[in-house]
Amino acid sequence: MSAQARPTRITTRQICQRKGGSPIVALTAYSTPVARLLDAHCDMILVGDSLGMVLYGLPTTLGVTVDMMINHGQAVMRGTMRACVVVDLPFGSYGASPEQAFGTAARIMAESGCAAVKLEGGAEMEATVAFLVARGIPVVAHIGLTPQSVNTFGGFRVQGRDEAGRHHILEDAIAIERAGAFAVVIEGTVEPLAREITAALRIPTIGIGASAACDGQILVTDDLVGVFQDFTPKFVKRYAEIGGAIEEAVAAYAADVRSRAFPGDAQTFKVAGKSPTQEG
Ligand code: KIV
Repeated sequence: MSAQARPTRITTRQICQRKGGSPIVALTAYSTPVARLLDAHCDMILVGDSLGMVLYGLPTTLGVTVDMMINHGQAVMRGTMRACVVVDLPFGSYGASPEQAFGTAARIMAESGCAAVKLEGGAEMEATVAFLVARGIPVVAHIGLTPQSVNTFGGFRVQGRDEAGRHHILEDAIAIERAGAFAVVIEGTVEPLAREITAALRIPTIGIGASAACDGQILVTDDLVGVFQDFTPKFVKRYAEIGGAIEEAVAAYAADVRSRAFPGDAQTFKVAGKSPTQEG
């Protein structure tokens, strides 16, 4: 494809300008081939630290490292031309101070080429978000059920069901907007609260388990295509059953190898004519 024919990338500013407009479509990707499949359809692609659980089989996202995020961020950037790519700051890499957050975010952006970073937290991260934004790092904040705080929450529980929770999460959203985040992911909250936050903010809200009241939606791609067969969270709609298809294909391959039906003639190189260097 020539340089002129390349689609221009959606910017963080364009994502922000989608507030109240046509819903923002966002999904996670961790690899080049999946990013290629998503690119034409998504406004934003998140290299989420969910990769720790989805790809590496970790019990939570807490074991994810900055190097992992950079490697997968680079892979996703190689597979995209159009979507705005955002990379998660992993647990322990930004919470100590704005300076720590800047060091991590700057390294991730410089080494992966992504457009922005996402971090978890609300009011307690206000100063950090402002520090990053003032230094050229666009930030998406993540509030509500923040998976890096799973040990504080005592599990993956829907947040904001009672008045104290509602007030807390609304204050988080307002603080994050004040700090200059260009969008906010709201995870695992009840619909009235997501609606209230979306109405209160000038930046777009992107929901995951936070109802259709948000300005956009994000899901973990592996959830929506059904890679896992054991557990589907309530907020996920499965659009395909890739896990079942992979298992069927693998079982058929195993049977073919055992019966010597694979490789067949079509997959076998033959000597063509008299030349020993020619293969058919
Ligand atoms: O890590 C992730 O994939 C996320 C999304 C679920 C929002 O943070």
